[in-house]
Amino acid sequence: MMHKESGRPAKKQVTVTINGKKCPAEEGEILLGVAIREKIAIPHLCFEPSLDPYGACRLCMVEVVKRGRKEMTTSCTLRAAEGLEIVTDTPEIVKYRNILFELYLAEAPKSEILKAMAARYGVTKTRFLKKLEAADTLDNKCILCGLCVRACNEIMGAGAIGFVNRGPYTLVGTPYGEPTKDCFGCGACVKVCPTNAVEMEDTGDTRIMKSWNGTKVPLSKCDCCGEFFAPKGLATAALARVIPSLKEEIAVLCPACRGKRIAQEEIRALSGGAGHHG
Ligand code: SF4
Ligand code: FES
Repeated sequence: MMHKESGRPAKKQVTVTINGKKCPAEEGEILLGVAIREKIAIPHLCFEPSLDPYGACRLCMVEVVKRGRKEMTTSCTLRAAEGLEIVTDTPEIVKYRNILFELYLAEAPKSEILKAMAARYGVTKTRFLKKLEAADTLDNKCILCGLCVRACNEIMGAGAIGFVNRGPYTLVGTPYGEPTKDCFGCGACVKVCPTNAVEMEDTGDTRIMKSWNGTKVPLSKCDCCGEFFAPKGLATAALARVIPSLKEEIAVLCPACRGKRIAQEEIRALSGGAGHHG
């Protein structure tokens, strides 16, 4: 059978059970996504639908009941199948999760998002200690989930940041802790970071990636309104690769002016009876 809107073959519908509740799902759908849709709380930090699930933060751990046997697994890597049954808050899960929260509170003591999430699950203190790193450009808010590194590599293909150092000294940063020319200034790292650790700022014609050692990226100025609207490298290289037909417009017009120009052309074509509707 075909899906009505996409025209692609429809996926088989299955029923999974979460904490005793029967939930409809597509076969192969990520269980954490099903739980989110069903408004069943499972804490999670490294789940980003635009990237393949990786299971880095381990916070979304659940218990799976399979043929009468129980095992713990991350719900962001678990796929829906008929009859699958999970429980999100067994004593073992709660204990495991609380220790993880404590570890993350020690790792990223300045992240308000993390503190608020841990508090929602009853964890407000940590028994673990970590020396605050003055040299940490992520201001001790990073839990090392790797989402920013993956977005930079796998989505943008820039490879501007990575993990540096080892063990307790591991950080995310630029090579040699210096500004990097590989950064497009796209801001994907800012958007995907679950703890609000990555910071950037636009000042005049420049985007400053504060967390990446002050990497500076020039911004494009809109030919029409004169506003700075997008990093130059992004407009001319990365986006052009994704949407070649829009290359010219993206490079010279901000989204608002581009929308206006398209509307004007449409009105002109209609009133002139040109009959072109794209
Ligand atoms: S900066 Fe944010 S996205 Fe990057 S590793 Fe740290 S917590 Fe994850
Ligand atoms: S959200 Fe599943 S491991 Fe992080």
